[in-house]
Amino acid sequence: MKTLDTFSSLDGWPSAAAAFAGDFRTGDRIQTAPWGGYAILGHAELLSLSRNPAADGMAADTNAMSATPVLGRILDRALFTQSGPVHRLERGAMIAAFASLPLQALTDEAVRGVVQAAPERADLRADLVERIVRASWAALLGLSPEDAQRCEAAVKKMAYLLSPNPRSDKADLAEVGGIDLNELCKIALRGPSPFVASLQSSLGADRTVELLAGIAFDGIETIAVGIDAAMRVAFANSKAVRPTSRCADECLRLASPTPLTMRYTTDVIEVCDIVIEPGTPLAMVWAAGNHDPDAFPDPEQFNSERSSRPLTFGMGNHACLGHALSRSLLVRLLMEIERLQPEKAPLPERWRPLAGDWLFPLRVAVI
Ligand code: HEM
Repeated sequence: MKTLDTFSSLDGWPSAAAAFAGDFRTGDRIQTAPWGGYAILGHAELLSLSRNPAADGMAADTNAMSATPVLGRILDRALFTQSGPVHRLERGAMIAAFASLPLQALTDEAVRGVVQAAPERADLRADLVERIVRASWAALLGLSPEDAQRCEAAVKKMAYLLSPNPRSDKADLAEVGGIDLNELCKIALRGPSPFVASLQSSLGADRTVELLAGIAFDGIETIAVGIDAAMRVAFANSKAVRPTSRCADECLRLASPTPLTMRYTTDVIEVCDIVIEPGTPLAMVWAAGNHDPDAFPDPEQFNSERSSRPLTFGMGNHACLGHALSRSLLVRLLMEIERLQPEKAPLPERWRPLAGDWLFPLRVAVI
């Protein structure tokens, strides 16, 4: 069986489709992962495994993070690292909390306010996407704009360690970020957010703070990268793009900003004649599934009429809980696309989603 080597190419790939084209040509849809366990690439294989309850959350390695215990605990208590009945209960509470949000009004206000106040020559990430994300995070947690900005600063510090290329020389700073974030999540308990109130009423104050801290990276960093990358695809295909969920999904599929996440097996699973033992890590390579030609013919082409479901937000019992918020913000931003004109070709020449500088700064004229 082939060992996954896609992400060892430091120079990246011309596109996400190009990164996995060879694997699909040779039929290497499941591979061994260089760090142990399996890497799952095929769309059908990802669908089947992600929906199997025995492909559950992977616990955080707190020993590896003993030098940064606060960060270690945030990961250890985050929803995505939970499994079994505890995960099901807490996921249910978080789904109910998200359902308590006035999503349409929240995203509409976040995007309209930011685009109206944007400078004539805006930086896509700093002046548009990050401000929109900050406004939506403030609304989600019921925080003041200042506290939402402090959350963003805390997450940026944490990112020194919680990134594919961790900076051990910045471990102390990353730990301070974790401490600040916990304090800010405690402030949210006293705020007006229906999301926080819903979580607190079902899981109690302490667990709510932990779960909020556990989604901060996704709610601030992952979503900013995702919307930034998806907007570049939208700019590059502006003639075909409409402000619809299907177009947003197609932009996100082509961008595939979260290339892989981990699951862990809690029981024997059989897939494609392979018997996977309990206790096996599974690297779910969503970016590969999103470019599997069996599910997405001509995977590099923008086509919002596709019949297969993209896997940008994962699938099944651990699927992303921020998908509706992320999609809704992107659709709302797509409504403004005619007012936003990039000053140069928007797409990076190489697809390198694990590199911090993958998305170069992009100036956008705001009309
Ligand atoms: C474009 C933005 C985003 C992308 C691409 C993304 C992607 C993902 C992916 C691939 C997973 C793993 C799914 C699986 O294993 O099946 C995930 C899980 C998760 N995401 Fe997101 N995410 C985004 C934004 C967000 C936001 C904004 C939030 C919250 C505010 C969020 C909260 C979560 C949570 C809580 C989980 C874990 C769910 C569980 O384990 O039960 N995500 N996300």
